[in-house]
Amino acid sequence: MSLHVEPILPQFGAYCSGLDLTRQLSADEVKQVTDAMDKWGVTVWCNTGMNDEQHVEFSRNFGYLERVPLREGGTYRLPFRELFDASNLNAEGEITQDEAAIQYRKGDRLWHTDSAFMTKRTSYSLLLAHSVPGEGGQTWFADTRTAYDDLPDHMKHFLEDKIGINSLWWSRKLAGADIPDEEIDARFKAEHPLVHTHAGSGRKALFIAAHTMDVKGMDKAEGRQLIQDLIAHCTQDKYIFSVSWNVGDMVIWDNLCSMHKGGEYDYANEKRDMRRTTVREGTEPRSLELDDPFTELFAATPKVVDINAARDSGR
Ligand code: OGA
Ligand code: MN
Repeated sequence: MSLHVEPILPQFGAYCSGLDLTRQLSADEVKQVTDAMDKWGVTVWCNTGMNDEQHVEFSRNFGYLERVPLREGGTYRLPFRELFDASNLNAEGEITQDEAAIQYRKGDRLWHTDSAFMTKRTSYSLLLAHSVPGEGGQTWFADTRTAYDDLPDHMKHFLEDKIGINSLWWSRKLAGADIPDEEIDARFKAEHPLVHTHAGSGRKALFIAAHTMDVKGMDKAEGRQLIQDLIAHCTQDKYIFSVSWNVGDMVIWDNLCSMHKGGEYDYANEKRDMRRTTVREGTEPRSLELDDPFTELFAATPKVVDINAARDSGR
């Protein structure tokens, strides 16, 4: 079978069907998926029938999968270290009452790109729904290529050599966590150009996120205003759409040409079980052993960002 593609916005987002993602794909089928991703930036696959293992196996087609950081004494709900837990559940599968965990997840409801705070960013994120709330809990996506195209020339020129400084803790602070500035200043930050060329399409894209704290060389207040203005520009109605989930649905987004955020739902009362694999940019398909900067980063992290920490179970 071959891929069927149904666009969502004229240049961004598409429903895809016609491939069975539970089995091993041929090289040609993988290329059909990456071609669709390069063109549309976000692809939505309904009712995939995938389990955890198939999710991880399918994701390996696109590069090295980041692993959930290890932390001594941490507990982990999911069976593979390649699965990041985007749910509101604790290790026992019950709705978490842990304030730190609840606070941490609030950061996902700000516009962001995954791993913008790491030196090596995430290219594709692949999020699979295992259980969904009765109402709400959709995910929103924004088109950072078309938004870039539509900027006035003077702004494109101004942004040409600008570098964003990105911090995980900055985004958690924006979401309401109580983290002092000195602590953020003392922790790791990653630098990425605010504009880059998206390799798969050759189109330019903005690269900004809730993690983007400052613009290198700019006055702090002016840089922060610029970041806010760019996020507001990219998230105008004409550049965004939302996905309403059913169990078994998977969405793949390319963080290097989109932003996303989770929608609101009744997270204190309704289970939302979402699991995510995360491909490191610039890596070969099926690479298994690369370095593990996530564990290093999180080892020096306050409890407020500890939700994904796993016990080392030899996986
Ligand atoms: C993520 C994320 C949003 C959501 O998993 O990276 O931002 O709607 N998720 O679960
Ligand atoms: Mn995310």
